[in-house]
Amino acid sequence: MWGSISNPARDIATAALPDKVVAAAAVAPDATSPQPPVDLVPHVPSNYPHFTPFVENVDQYKAMYQRSIEDPDGFWADIASEFHWHKKWDEKHTSWNFDVRNGPIHVEWFKGGLTNIAYNCLDRHVAAGRGDQPCFLWEGNEPKDSAVMTYSQVLGEVCRMANYLRSIGVGKGDAVSIYMPMVCELPIAMLACARIGAVHSVVFGGFSAEALAGRIADCKAKVLITSSGVMRGSKKIDLKAIADKAVEMAELNDEHLVSTVVVQEVKHAVTREHTHFVQGRDVWWEDALRGQPTEAEVEWVEADHPLFLLYTSGSTGKPKGVVHCTGGYMVYTFTTTKYVFNMAPGDVYWCTADCGWITGHSYLTYGPLLVGASQVVFEGVPTYPAADRCWQVVDKYKVKQFYTAPTAIRSLMRAGELYVKEHNRDSLRILGSVGEPINPEAWRWYHDVVGDGRCPIVDTWWQTETGGHMITPLPNTWQQKPGSATLPFFGVVPVIVDDKANELQGEAEGMLCIKQAWPSTLRTVYGDHDRYETNYFKPFPGYYFSGDGARRDKDGYFWITGRVDDVINVSGHRIGTAEVESALVAHPKCAEAAVVGFEHAIKGQGIYAFVTLMEGESYTEDLRRELIASVRSHIGAFAAPDAIHWAPGLPKTRSGKIMRRVLRKIASKEEDQLGDISTLADPSVVQQLVDLRGK
Ligand code: WT7
Repeated sequence: MWGSISNPARDIATAALPDKVVAAAAVAPDATSPQPPVDLVPHVPSNYPHFTPFVENVDQYKAMYQRSIEDPDGFWADIASEFHWHKKWDEKHTSWNFDVRNGPIHVEWFKGGLTNIAYNCLDRHVAAGRGDQPCFLWEGNEPKDSAVMTYSQVLGEVCRMANYLRSIGVGKGDAVSIYMPMVCELPIAMLACARIGAVHSVVFGGFSAEALAGRIADCKAKVLITSSGVMRGSKKIDLKAIADKAVEMAELNDEHLVSTVVVQEVKHAVTREHTHFVQGRDVWWEDALRGQPTEAEVEWVEADHPLFLLYTSGSTGKPKGVVHCTGGYMVYTFTTTKYVFNMAPGDVYWCTADCGWITGHSYLTYGPLLVGASQVVFEGVPTYPAADRCWQVVDKYKVKQFYTAPTAIRSLMRAGELYVKEHNRDSLRILGSVGEPINPEAWRWYHDVVGDGRCPIVDTWWQTETGGHMITPLPNTWQQKPGSATLPFFGVVPVIVDDKANELQGEAEGMLCIKQAWPSTLRTVYGDHDRYETNYFKPFPGYYFSGDGARRDKDGYFWITGRVDDVINVSGHRIGTAEVESALVAHPKCAEAAVVGFEHAIKGQGIYAFVTLMEGESYTEDLRRELIASVRSHIGAFAAPDAIHWAPGLPKTRSGKIMRRVLRKIASKEEDQLGDISTLADPSVVQQLVDLRGK
């Protein structure tokens, strides 16, 4: 499915991966990433009278942190004891190797233990008398649509779905693909898989049929759980039609067929009557669950049993299926949720992320339920029906912790503060940010306007691969600096290295790596352990390489400067330039394509594509539209290029490598800062490209 399209430009550019590319990137960090003027940003003292932080001050943090890295077995075992384990882990339960020179990379946590994360998310709270507490506060796309599900109700539905999945032969280790909008049935489906030891693979509802097909085929999913449709703002999307196409495409390429499609009816988008239904393969969610008991046996799994796969983009080739395992992920997402959001059972919490991304896994489905929160599940978008939607919802449910992405903050900021001031927001205590660097201006607005200066900001740096927060403030524990993710979480040892893998001390800037395993370290890339080692552990031997650049200031605070590989971060969505290039060259009139990121006021980064056409083809508006359509159909609308720049030729070195640094400068109209271009095979292409800008 993936990789069927070859891209000559990419093949040359990545021939020497990983070391060369990474080293090259090291010399020229992405010019489009925000570079906050570290020393000019005023500190914001943590002095918020409204709550007592769990970690009272920096000294207490330091003591806890020290123990977490010196005695990881003991530190994490103490926390793990809060959970139910069917069988306890061994005394020395963790081991890892992060150095390829010492053999295969491996990571192990809670060795010997047996547990179940769904049990710990639900049954444990019901057994403790919290069954009637709201679990999900569902808020639909239209403000009039909402529903509440208690912990007991969610447990009942999870068990019914678990029983159904078992009845059709899904069991421990089987993969289940999920392609749904933000309805409660989405986390319910995930938890049902976890209960029976099946491995879920959630695919964001904005991905195209082809992208979904690739993900279904790669993990050989037995079942696809989807919905009839979804309303996104005022737009209706026929999800089931896309899912049907995907199953068809996946089957053409793979012998492991999806044998069952469970369809959940989203009445307010597409009703049953308007949904295409394949007899013998499809079953309505309601019919599947009919007659199923609300209790289901728990599958106790080894701590290192895979919990889920989540596909994410990298510098090269097809998306990688990142694998997270049960025990470590459970303990780590719980601990970060508790300390970073200062969260207690019963708190009303709202994360605006979609379950299709890691944030929706760790800080919607799992972390908050492990703590026992009541959380908002939001189907809509922050600006519909108007730009005050978030604050209206905050007041409606009395949200205490609110977690969103800088791109949303910037678009709400642009709409103006009147939308915020219309609502009183006095329930808010903590404001979280995730997905991309937050520029100090947006940070200020979030803090001063949304939080009325009363709420600390937690700017959480982490990744799909890390499973949970890695570098983040603890609220009200130490002073903040707008734009800095500040200090590492317990158990995390971040280091800054130069391009020769030397650790830099003190104030420094370079590549951000992690030195020792943390409980939710990704365990492998599904079906390709080599790729796991090559991508994450070979670039800087002895370390996990994040793909980000970072700076450490004199106070030891970390400032993430953005990706140093060929990954673009658009509205907090990670997009591989190689994937967009493949989608462009799939068009018969496109000979070559090179994609770079450029600074975008709302999205953080936008996608800028240089396109060389086949001999004899001419530049037309229709062709521009067709090229964008090609990206939409290969990946999804969210990856559509913001700009197509016609390129008679691309700036290449004599060995044929595209100089992306030059393209980034042209895209951001900074060709006066090109630097040395004497190594280009044909330096005249630069002027040609500048002349064609905007054409
Ligand atoms: C990449 C990971 C983390 C969950 C959502 C995205 C960027 C993420 C921050 C932050 C600066 C950030 C990094 C990272 N990123 N959070 N607080 N400050 N950059 O997960 O899709 O795996 O993307 O997002 O570049 O590598 P993801």
